[in-house]
Amino acid sequence: MGRLLLGVTGGIAAYKAVETARLAVSAGHAVRVIQTSTSERFVGKASFEAITGAPVLISEFDADPARGAYPGEPLPDRAPISHLALVERAQAYLIAPASANTLAKLAHGHADNLLCTAALAASCPIAVAPAMNHRMYTSGATQANLGLLAGRGITIIPPGEGNLASHGERGIGRLAEPVELLSAWEAMLGPASLAGVRVLVSAGGTREPIDSVRYMGNRSSGRMGYALASDAVRRGAEVTVIAANVALDDLPGTRVIRVQTAGELAAACEREFPSCDVLLMAAAVADFRPAQPSEQKLKKDRGVPSIELEPTIDVLAAVAEVRRPGQVLVGFAAEHGDGATSSGRQKLERKRLDLVVVNDISRRDIGFDSAQNEVTIISASGERLVPQASKGHVARAVLDEVELVRGSSREGVNGAGADARSAARV
Ligand code: CTP
Repeated sequence: MGRLLLGVTGGIAAYKAVETARLAVSAGHAVRVIQTSTSERFVGKASFEAITGAPVLISEFDADPARGAYPGEPLPDRAPISHLALVERAQAYLIAPASANTLAKLAHGHADNLLCTAALAASCPIAVAPAMNHRMYTSGATQANLGLLAGRGITIIPPGEGNLASHGERGIGRLAEPVELLSAWEAMLGPASLAGVRVLVSAGGTREPIDSVRYMGNRSSGRMGYALASDAVRRGAEVTVIAANVALDDLPGTRVIRVQTAGELAAACEREFPSCDVLLMAAAVADFRPAQPSEQKLKKDRGVPSIELEPTIDVLAAVAEVRRPGQVLVGFAAEHGDGATSSGRQKLERKRLDLVVVNDISRRDIGFDSAQNEVTIISASGERLVPQASKGHVARAVLDEVELVRGSSREGVNGAGADARSAARV
């Protein structure tokens, strides 16, 4: 059963969203609702709150009394820092009905209400169910907006044809029926394709002490690793996250081991690796650390210190040496500009990995500390470009490739099948 988020915009069809929420709750899902303020003119919060048993959110400035928890989950000890906790924890986000105005805002990345902000920040799959007058639906602007959204991997649940709200008008624009909306929503949860599979994810960036207050670190936020963990949970995997200095809330359904240094991360990986089936090594691990960190704070009146560095252990290469058959190893490579792909391929071979996910860190709009990424996924004989998209979308592409590698190794072709299929998509 899933954690489903429902976004409701203004329109006569909002009453069908109430019925959709009711069906989802009856099917055993935990449902939370975000409404736009216009939608309140059509259905009140009280209807959704009674059905879902959870508070409805409307404004990004209102505190969530349930602190981002879904029905059935314990109330977290503290309120989340972000008003986006609800979407961070969602496994699928359905916006129904989606008005022409909201579709336009989603297509162009507006974030002027909680519903749209949540869509921008979503790492889970999103579906929109348009509902509007047929002339608005068939207008060039709405169709172009739907095209943009579909191009970004958002599912469009097409409206039906029939009598419309405007008296005497017939045409296309009626919101899909609640049963159809629920099945599209559930389809986004996906089959539990990784049920019983143990996935180990490293996320964030290590910090190596220089003295008692200073450290050598990097800009990794942990969002890519968390997006991978979240998608693995969605696919039914048993997920452990080794989080290096990540300032994000723990993901529901994961076991989190918090570490700081490359040494701690190496120890946690060595301990957890033997029992995992898939390792997604997304953490940015320091390659060097101060050889003799000072236990005191270095004082400036002692002059400019020179800091001797020593290499850290290459964790991924070390665990690759002791891998057992069937374990899938995925490395991440941050590379600069031209030659990124060939350098990523060298890492694949040198570290004996199944996949390397390369991103170009010469670009400021993607990668480190950004919500977006654009990557090339490299396997032994294929390459797949995942164009710029949310880290959630990129995570889904990476896990699709992991599933192909696992499928091929089960077929006993040592990854050749996966490579052929990956290559076919180049
Ligand atoms: N990695 C690791 N241990 C390290 C350094 C890196 O496990 N000490 C892992 C990272 O988590 C990543 C992959 O290795 O999945 C590639 O990291 P990267 O630093 O790009 O590779 P290097 O082989 O260290 O090469 P470079 O000289 O480009 O930094």
